[in-house]
Amino acid sequence: DWKMDAFVENTIKEIREKVGDGKVLLALSGGVDSSVAAGLLSRAIGKQLTCVFVDHGLLRKDEGDEVEGVFGPNGQFDLNFIRVNAQQRYYDKLAGVTEPEAKRKIIGEEFIRIFEEEAKKIGAVDFLAQGTIYPDVVESGLGGESAVIKSHHNVGGLPDYVDFKEIIEPLRDLFKDEVRKAGLELGIPENLVFRQPFPGPGLGIRIIGEVTAEKVRIVQDADAIYREEIAKAGLDRDINQYFAALTNMRSVGVMGDFRTYDYAVALRAVKTIDFMTAEAAEIPYEVLNKVMNRIINEVKGVNRVFYDLTSKPPGTIEFE
Ligand code: XMP
Repeated sequence: DWKMDAFVENTIKEIREKVGDGKVLLALSGGVDSSVAAGLLSRAIGKQLTCVFVDHGLLRKDEGDEVEGVFGPNGQFDLNFIRVNAQQRYYDKLAGVTEPEAKRKIIGEEFIRIFEEEAKKIGAVDFLAQGTIYPDVVESGLGGESAVIKSHHNVGGLPDYVDFKEIIEPLRDLFKDEVRKAGLELGIPENLVFRQPFPGPGLGIRIIGEVTAEKVRIVQDADAIYREEIAKAGLDRDINQYFAALTNMRSVGVMGDFRTYDYAVALRAVKTIDFMTAEAAEIPYEVLNKVMNRIINEVKGVNRVFYDLTSKPPGTIEFE
């Protein structure tokens, strides 16, 4: 794609001019936008860029290692990569907390604290980079969904807890599909570039009620099976968002000669344009059946699988 090629080349030039020999700090979530921003900045300024990636223990299965594989020391990008393994720290903070907004708040605040700690270790930087894209810019003016989601769910505005002089936003003029093209152009792997949306609080809001390490393990394993089968069935690019969630319900079942009393997993898959309204996707019964069988057989602690048929509204896409 020659247009993207030109965008990447020009942006690299612009970043070099703007940054000079300054230092840049980026919070890398592993999502599409921050990953592409990291790729561009790395190509432009190499080790003048430091990426902080916080593994809050609420990522999808193996996701932390995937991000490290791409951006870490054995990956393909020249940059300083800091991975903070904060899993236990988050589980401790979340112990006993059941209310959805309270969970969101704890997860968001803990991120700020960790990012602040890391920024202090690095010392003053010249630029704070952000993966802001065009719809974020426009919609924050118009109060669109993206902005609503961000201000409601994430930490809005500029971080005032990091010592920096200027903001740098290399993706400000791009739409999502252009961001993905730029990502491919930069050599970021397809599974990262075409990632479906994943909420900031991660699995924290896909586990109904209290979050524990054990529940995270269950939902990660069930979700990995679900995603694998959806991809195998060739449905992954048609469904806009799909995931497994862990209900807080346990019920009686039977496994061989034994009675079980285990959790129920809920499968969600939606078709949507703007994420404001959505409909449950029509997944072929054989695919659902295979997923159900695999989850029951492979994931310890689960004895029932539900498929969520609810539209949005009245349901939301996530469970909390
Ligand atoms: P709901 O559940 O509100 O989700 O129908 C709409 C879209 O927003 C995402 N979402 C979030 N994203 N932090 C985020 O960054 C959050 O707390 C959050 N809650 C929901 C959700 O995944 C869906 O794409």
